[in-house]
Amino acid sequence: MQKINLSKKAFSQSKKMFPGGVNSPVRAFKNVNSLPVFIKKGKGAYIYDLDGNKYIDYIGSWGPMILGHANKTILKSIEKTIKNSTSFGAPTILETEMAKSIKSIFPSMEKMRMTSSGTEATMSAIRLARGYTNKDKIIKFEGCYHGHVDSLLVNAGSGAATFGVPSSPGIPKALTKNTVCLKYNDINQVEKYFKKNGKEIACVIIEPIAGNMNCVIPSKEFIKKLRILCNQYKSILIFDEVMTGFRVARGGSPRNF
Ligand SMILES: Cc1ncc(COP(=O)(O)O)c(C=O)c1O
Repeated sequence: MQKINLSKKAFSQSKKMFPGGVNSPVRAFKNVNSLPVFIKKGKGAYIYDLDGNKYIDYIGSWGPMILGHANKTILKSIEKTIKNSTSFGAPTILETEMAKSIKSIFPSMEKMRMTSSGTEATMSAIRLARGYTNKDKIIKFEGCYHGHVDSLLVNAGSGAATFGVPSSPGIPKALTKNTVCLKYNDINQVEKYFKKNGKEIACVIIEPIAGNMNCVIPSKEFIKKLRILCNQYKSILIFDEVMTGFRVARGGSPRNF
């Protein structure tokens, strides 16, 4: 039987600080009748908890640790960079260098805006789409999660699915009335909706591989037709690659279809 005494102790402390003792619904264990283990360190593909238990890390910090933990090259680069401080709130050359590198991988990207979280990215993309098209409605798909943006927490998967809550409490109807949630891979339904409401649809947002409902792959026809419909009705097609970008394939997941 695995010992988790120190994790238990740490959890009793964190419960006094955070709702559920954690800082994200995906770290909560209450609904699976268990206790979270507290992680002390990681090396390569492994992480270790406070009690010294070793785990293969299948989470990878939900994506960013794609090169493994405490990678020597990355640590060296971080050490070198933070000697000049960690943040300025002003432009730096490093940003442009990173942007050039991203652009070389996604040549279709004309310009970019960097954000600190996926939620900010999808929120900004939708705002831009609404501003550009001067339309209000957004189409999302059941089981796709695009962050904790009020208007997007409708039938979201991921953390929301863990609790079996289709739409989170605390979101006024007024904020979701322009969000239409359709079935993933059902292009007939999307086409019908566009035919009736195309003039009002600012954008379609989709996970091009739906990781938040256990990796559902879209059909080629579905993705191709979404592109065609969006062009036809002057709506913006947003691929949310918060999870798939740089991981499924170089250049983003749609290239794989
Ligand atoms: C596809 C997708 N989009 C957006 C987000 C939101 O990202 P963040 O948690 O960084 O706000 C997530 C988070 O899991 C995600 O999986």
